[in-house]
Amino acid sequence: MLIVPGGALLAQATAATPAAAADQADLLPQYMTWALIVGGALVFIAAMFYVIKVNQFLYKRIVQMEAAKAGVALPEDAANVLGGDSFWTTMRKKYWEDVVPVEREKDIMLHHDYDGIHELDNSMPPWWLNMFYITIIWAVGYMFYYHWGGGGPSSEEEYKNKVERAKKEMAVALAGQANAVDESNVTALTDAGMLGEGELIFKNSCAACHGQGGEGSVGPNLTDDYWIHGGGIKNVFKTIKYGVPEKGMIAWSSQLKPSDMQKVASYILTLHGTNPPNPKAPQGDIWKEEGAAAPQDTTVTDTVKTAEPAPTK
Ligand code: HEC
Repeated sequence: MLIVPGGALLAQATAATPAAAADQADLLPQYMTWALIVGGALVFIAAMFYVIKVNQFLYKRIVQMEAAKAGVALPEDAANVLGGDSFWTTMRKKYWEDVVPVEREKDIMLHHDYDGIHELDNSMPPWWLNMFYITIIWAVGYMFYYHWGGGGPSSEEEYKNKVERAKKEMAVALAGQANAVDESNVTALTDAGMLGEGELIFKNSCAACHGQGGEGSVGPNLTDDYWIHGGGIKNVFKTIKYGVPEKGMIAWSSQLKPSDMQKVASYILTLHGTNPPNPKAPQGDIWKEEGAAAPQDTTVTDTVKTAEPAPTK
């Protein structure tokens, strides 16, 4: 009890001179402080035992001397009566043997009769009692470590950490979901950042054949109304994914993640109607978005039909 506030006093004293406090914090890391406190506590406990022993010894001597002075003969077992059992014997009796075994329980049964219920006044079994004491010791250590010492995370910090971890896991799961896009569920992205990434991919991997602005060179013009394999995000994604290998357009699923194919496909759709210089002549059929106001003529139906890219496997 003396040692613990001592630590607090020390902290206050050092806090008064911040520079000294910082120095001390460097010299004396936290675990050293705790080692000192625990060591001090052990010394204190040992000293207390010693004082008690000396006390008992003196008491015995005084009684013997007084008896000798008065000429009274002490009984045979006086030493036992005076000194009592040793500390360890007392402890053993108290904490290990002071329980009446089941065979002798009838001796200590109290004979009050409460509607047929009798009171058995026995001690708790030693193993149970000792476990109980251990939990108390554990609780003290726990309080020091988690609440006062700041050694471990508090419940609140633990909660925050867990939320943090869950957020990360969620981000990973969402990223996985983004990569799970395929031609059946792909949607056109509108986020500027995503389209920017799509543009980058286009400039790096596609512009060589489709032109910097998508005007077309080896590959077809991607800015006009005409599509060989169908327009719209789903068809464009599908063409990119499976490619048209026999015409020189590889299946990009081997090079790009699904989310990247979605980005570049979305970027391509933004090129529509940009009229870049040197456009390649239209190829394929005119494409109208489904649900668009334009009347559905046969050409459109054809386009939808021819939208299936040639199987690649
Ligand atoms: C080696 C040249 C080459 C590269 C590189 C290339 N393409 Fe192509 N692409 C072509 C050719 C050739 C076609 C026409 C296929 C056909 O005639 O069926 C085509 C067709 C397409 C079509 C279909 C156009 C339509 O009218 O239906 C899309 C969409 C497309 N490419 C997107 C891309 C994207 C996106 C990339 C980059 C990731 C890319 N291409 C890279 C050569 C290329």
